[in-house]
Parts: sequence; C-alpha cells; structure tokens
Amino acid sequence: RQQKRWHVYPTAEDFEIRVVRGILRMAREAIAVRGAFCIVLAGGKTPAPIYRRLAAARMEAEWSKWHVYWGDELCLPADDPARNSVIARRAWLDDSPIPAAQIHPIPAEFGPQGGAERYAEVVAGVDEFDLTLLGLGEDGHTASLFPGRDWGADPDSAEVLAVTDAPGACAERVSLSANRLSRSREVVFLATGFGKFSAVQRWRCGEPLPAAAITPACGVDICLTLDAFDFA
Ligand code: 6PG
Repeated sequence: RQQKRWHVYPTAEDFEIRVVRGILRMAREAIAVRGAFCIVLAGGKTPAPIYRRLAAARMEAEWSKWHVYWGDELCLPADDPARNSVIARRAWLDDSPIPAAQIHPIPAEFGPQGGAERYAEVVAGVDEFDLTLLGLGEDGHTASLFPGRDWGADPDSAEVLAVTDAPGACAERVSLSANRLSRSREVVFLATGFGKFSAVQRWRCGEPLPAAAITPACGVDICLTLDAFDFA
C-alpha cells in the first residue's frame, strides 16, 4: 500500500524553489552517510525548470558525488530533442560538473528490448536509489507505466520493461518497472498545472493508477502546484 504525503505550493516558482531545495538537501544527506547520491530523473516537461535551477546552483552541491539515472526513455535517436535524457542534458547536465561517466541515460536508441536489456545491467549496479523523481500523466501514468498494462509491480518481474504499445506519440519506450522504482529511499512526484487536476483527484480517491503502484518503504512525496490539487 502506498503512503502519500502531499505538498501543495501556491505558485510554480514556490514549487520549483522548494523542490530544488529538497533535492539538494537529500543529496547532502546521502553523500554524508554513503558518500554518493544516486538520483533517477523524470521525463516530460514538468521537471525542466527544476533542472534549470539545478544548473544554476553550481556552488551548492558536491556534484562529483552525483550519479544520474532515468526512469524512462522514448525509443528515438540518441540526440532527439523529445528524449528525456536530451531534455535534462540541455537544461542542466551538458553544462554541469557531474562527471560524464556518472550520467547514465537509457540507451533506448537500441529499441525497447535492446534498451531494456542494456539498462538492466546498468541499474543492477545500484541496490537502492537515493531519490527518484517521477512525473504524472493526465491519465495517471508515471514513467512509461500506463493504465491497463503490466507495470512490473511483482517482486519477480523484470526491473526494466520494454514497452511497445504506449499510447500517444511514441509507442516504443523503455521504463524502469514499478518494483524497481519503488526501491528508492525517497520518491518525489512532480505535477504542475490544471491539466493534472483530474489525475490527482483520482489518485487522492484511491484509484489504482500506475502512479499508485510506486510503493517505497518510506512512502512517496507528491509536490504540486495549487491548480493541480484543488480549485483555488
Ligand atoms: C515520459 C515521462 C512521463 C511524464 C508524464 C508527464 O517520458 O513520458 O517520464 O511519465 O512524466 O507524461 O509529462 P509532463 O511533465 O510533460 O506533463
């Protein structure tokens, strides 16, 4: 069962400032205790302003201890601007002091199966992620786990899923499974704007959306702007 903590911010700016502050605090704590910080990035448009603010926080973290992963990726050429890794690279990583060898995009250019197999070897090196960022689709999807599909929530399911029938523009994707995403010390969902309101309502009412299948031991934090949560 998923334990949820809701954090609602009045404006997009408040949301961005508080989320970035939280990420930097979690990084400091992880580095102090374990000497490294393993973060899983979300795709989509919502986190781009967060990534830009992380790029601007150059003096505020021990970047050489950061290790970066992704929750899902579209099977498009490696430099396609729609790819989650390219969005994060352009907004932040290309110009960051994080060593290139510690940035691990999903090799989805090899197709769903080839990408999933290769990435399974990469994430096998991490027992538990320190922080996983996730988005929320208007239909309640998260990463590339869509309603009505297999989300890999069983303990014995594959850790990285080859997705071949995603709805929308790009049917072929690679996604960490719900079970693998749940193996994180902290999970933070990011959702802004009224477009997310109905998915948030359904989630609050206990509907079994894909986002509800992410069940880390310490629960999930859901960071929202007010318009995504309630009528102002
Ligand atoms: C993806 C994302 C996906 C995303 C949601 C929300 O690549 O599809 O990882 O799960 O977070 O679709 O996307 P927006 O932030 O663009 O609304």
